[in-house]
Amino acid sequence: MRLDKLLANAGYGSRKEVKQLLKQKAVTVDGKMVKDPSMHVDPEVQEIYVLGEKLEYKEFIYIMLNKPPGVISATEDLYDKTVIDLLSPIDRHYKPFPVGRLDKDTVGLLLLTNDGKLAHNLLSPKKHVPKTYYAKIDGLVTKEDVEAFRQGVELDDGYVTKPAQLNIIKSDEKSEIELTIYEGKFHQVKRMFEAVGKKVTFLKRLLMGSLQLDEKLKYGEYRELTMEELELIQNEITKEE
Ligand code: URA
Repeated sequence: MRLDKLLANAGYGSRKEVKQLLKQKAVTVDGKMVKDPSMHVDPEVQEIYVLGEKLEYKEFIYIMLNKPPGVISATEDLYDKTVIDLLSPIDRHYKPFPVGRLDKDTVGLLLLTNDGKLAHNLLSPKKHVPKTYYAKIDGLVTKEDVEAFRQGVELDDGYVTKPAQLNIIKSDEKSEIELTIYEGKFHQVKRMFEAVGKKVTFLKRLLMGSLQLDEKLKYGEYRELTMEELELIQNEITKEE
């Protein structure tokens, strides 16, 4: 890869800014100062230093975000703030995108990555990756609802949902539940509760496959996945269908 492209991809500025860095003799490749932006380098084998700092090149980025309310799960929007706007310029440089969508008012676990293959697999209906939500519900959630969700409920468009697990945490006029679904239809959780005559008033995603929301992350905060977390989800989607 060209040196200027590599440095730009790694977040050291635009190609023009990178050229300036090279002019300032700020870059070495295998111990030799380099000024030529078109030089071809291999970051996997060669040691590249920028301003005395070793360049840790990575092709992919995997981010766990605790999505706040009021922000949309898109890469750009004319009116609303997007989840990408919450990232630092360096992280944005990798061009990550959200893996699936949470509604504007839904909070919690959202994975952002530029690894299209992983995203595709996580979202593939064939993989049945479970997603677990915590929700507050207006209305009394009952054992009958648990059974209905286990069987599948009919949504407003006639679609019958796949079996889902509903756990009641608190059952009264303002119920609290956890729900695990194995598919991802538009507004699915809200529509499932509408199907049994109830309204979701708060929705938070806790889990996607084995990936669990890090509760230390406040709304709008994020961190990269650990190696362990990444390996777990990678193994999960390569499992036999
Ligand atoms: N189901 C919903 O209704 N909304 C979400 O954001 C996610 C799942």
